[in-house]
Amino acid sequence: MTEGKEKKAYPADMMEKLVSLCKRRGFIYQGSEIYGGLAGTYDYGPLGTALKNNIKNLWWRMFVDGRDDMYGMDAAILMNPRVWETTGHVAGFADPLVECTKCKKRFRADQLEDRTKCPACGGTTGAERQFNMMLSTRVGAMEDSSSISYLRPETAQGMFVNFKNVVDSFHPKMPFGMGQVGKAFRNEITPRDFIFRLRELEQMEIEYFVKESDWSRAFEEWRVAMNTWIDVVGIDRARVHEVEIEDRAHYSKRTIDFEFDYPFGQKELYGLAYRTDFDLSRHSEASKVDLSYRDEEAGEKFMPHVIEPSFGLDRTMLAVLLSAYTEDTMGDSPREYLKFHPCVAPIKAAISPLLKNKPELVEKAREVYAMLKKEIPQIMWDDNGNVGKRYRRQDEIGTPFCIVIDFDTLGETPEHKDTVTVRDRDTGTQQRLQISELTNYLKNAIF
Ligand code: GAP
Repeated sequence: MTEGKEKKAYPADMMEKLVSLCKRRGFIYQGSEIYGGLAGTYDYGPLGTALKNNIKNLWWRMFVDGRDDMYGMDAAILMNPRVWETTGHVAGFADPLVECTKCKKRFRADQLEDRTKCPACGGTTGAERQFNMMLSTRVGAMEDSSSISYLRPETAQGMFVNFKNVVDSFHPKMPFGMGQVGKAFRNEITPRDFIFRLRELEQMEIEYFVKESDWSRAFEEWRVAMNTWIDVVGIDRARVHEVEIEDRAHYSKRTIDFEFDYPFGQKELYGLAYRTDFDLSRHSEASKVDLSYRDEEAGEKFMPHVIEPSFGLDRTMLAVLLSAYTEDTMGDSPREYLKFHPCVAPIKAAISPLLKNKPELVEKAREVYAMLKKEIPQIMWDDNGNVGKRYRRQDEIGTPFCIVIDFDTLGETPEHKDTVTVRDRDTGTQQRLQISELTNYLKNAIF
């Protein structure tokens, strides 16, 4: 899948540049920053939120609304703790932990070069133990062990426990799937690398139910669909690797990880797992509710098997930002900009009058802005500084088009009356378009 694509090298200080751009331009801030932050949490600012929503909506359109065999869900984050006992998370959702006997810092043992040596102070680490990553909380007024619950560590279980509800409401034919986007929480020992390893994260997950005999066909179908997504959302294909995982989670019989070349190494972006009938069978057994599927036409009843394509939303954001980040020289000056695919760009077009002290230009520009805003809400009014500076600012946040209303628009050159200039972010080229053509032009380019 990577043939013909040349891999772009990152600048040496790529992460510093990206983190700084994301903060400066309102994409991503450190969580609770004014109090010194909270490790493993980040807050998405206005542009980050817009980018994230565009990615979520694209995913939902492609994998839920755009298909006849998918059902959307939005399950509660808090679930009955028996869910997590049944799935094995209470007993086994853990990472190996070591603690330094001298400075008391804790590390994930499998991420250390030498598990016996503290990378912070050089001291010796104590015995390795398993550290459960589920974040627990108390639900209700009781403060005994019966009130303990967990913030879900994956969105998946919200779909498994609703399997029967969806079947009873919609009577779907096999194969079919459920899709959900939502928060998940993991008490990571060492959150790190910006939004790569978080304690509060967001997932976009699919549980696709099949007959056991159909699992490898469905697995392949979803492998292809995940690759299509990678291209559509604007993740640099040349930096993606499919890796067959041998050391799989306890529930999986086959797993492929989609790994991405981040500046800090090749690491997981997404996972595709064949979860067998593990979850539905375990929940059936533990809840005493029969979760098998009855195929009336074929006159058979069976426990469905599951293919699970799992997409981390924050890692998607990181891979999209890293793929879009570009440095080049335009005119005589170097520029740093985000080459987003227009469908995910937080701002689709910026509208400005050539000069902001000419009321006739401002009035016409406001008219064009109001006309476009009705049809394409993610546009921006920008009359700060001169046009050159506006272009650079918009390039930096990845706005694909800048539209300028000038004296020709007002009829100074009669053949250009009611036309505007539309400048392309990537090439810097400008074309004149009729105002009446603008909405369609932008819609075609964006969606
Ligand atoms: N339901 C299966 C599941 O949760 P996972 O591989 O543990 O599988 C799925 O997680 C995806 O969630 C990962 O591929 C990654 O994109 C994202 N993810 C997992 N842990 C994360 C973390 N600590 N921070 C950010 N994203 C994370």
